[in-house]
Amino acid sequence: MNLQQNISLKNYNTFGISVNAKRFISVTSVYELQQLLKTEKDLFLLSGGSNMLLTKDIKKLVVHIDIKGISIDREDNNDVYLTVNAGENWHEFVLWCISNNYGGIENLSLIPGNVGTCPIQNIGAYGVEVKDTITKVEALEIKTGKLHLFPNEVCEFGYRNSIFKNAEKGKYIITSVSFLLTRKNHQLNTSYGAIETELTSKNITKPSLKDVSDAVIAIRKSKLPDPKEIGNSGSFFKNPVISKNQFLELQKENPNMPNYPVSETEVKVPAGWLVEQSGFKGKRFGDAGIHEKQALVLVNYGNASGLEIHQLAQKIQETVSKNFGISLEIEVNVI
Ligand code: EPU
Repeated sequence: MNLQQNISLKNYNTFGISVNAKRFISVTSVYELQQLLKTEKDLFLLSGGSNMLLTKDIKKLVVHIDIKGISIDREDNNDVYLTVNAGENWHEFVLWCISNNYGGIENLSLIPGNVGTCPIQNIGAYGVEVKDTITKVEALEIKTGKLHLFPNEVCEFGYRNSIFKNAEKGKYIITSVSFLLTRKNHQLNTSYGAIETELTSKNITKPSLKDVSDAVIAIRKSKLPDPKEIGNSGSFFKNPVISKNQFLELQKENPNMPNYPVSETEVKVPAGWLVEQSGFKGKRFGDAGIHEKQALVLVNYGNASGLEIHQLAQKIQETVSKNFGISLEIEVNVI
């Protein structure tokens, strides 16, 4: 463990925001983390930095979780059980699975971030959520330094949500995630319109895992900015769920409003559509902006501060609320 002082976190968050970390340490094993917890409890945890907006300097000890390694726990004819350490890059893990013909997470290709944080917000895209393949999450309790296992059923997974964002928030450090993936009879999910279109355009009728992954990568690249080129944190807002009654009222004025029924009484509306209809898509205010191809993504063109991006988000929230009576909830962690 190597303690560094007064470093910029610009390269440690996908928004590319420069704030100062007074003290910074990288840990590469559970043992190191346990040693650290004996003396330090008030930590600022940093993993892939892909779901956070930093608005101020960090005074706490910043702990970069850099624990690597993938192990195969069990394999039979049809399935494979894997445990992946928290510091593995998510997309590299997905590609590794595809090259080994392990199915289940191909639709989650190219999502930024690390494996250790994927359960926290239950990452999801193109009809698949990571909760469908997770068997358990292992985490260190900060108070005691002890390892705890959270089987899937106790993780309270929901849309961009889990127990780690609610009851257990701030109490644990996720050290590894275990998955159950298929080796045969893969259950491909290609029902999402854009995937079908992409596969059809390539004349693929019997897609492989790689075909689906390639299709997802092509779609994401066409719509979402690459954080290496333009700082961003993916979807900045959650897609709001509103009552069916409110939706029916809004539909009278907006007959083309996209919508997805959630239950008999509730409807999900895409935040990207609401932001676009409010006139923000592609707009730029200094170095803070709204992506030109996906209005749900706020971007940092270079030197925007976290506060500037947060102010822009608030302006969007106010306008959407005024126009549609819908309050948009921020999905990334604002710090
Ligand atoms: N839309 C607009 N304008 C926009 C963006 C979207 O009108 O600028 C409309 C589209 O026309 C479409 C609808 O909104 O009718 C849905 O758009 P899209 O399929 O692009 O998906 P999304 O709801 O905007 C969600 C996830 C993404 C995920 C995609 C694909 C959330 C908050 N976002 O976006 O996740 O990749 O579905 O499954 O649920 C992320 O979390 O970082 C992320 C990128």
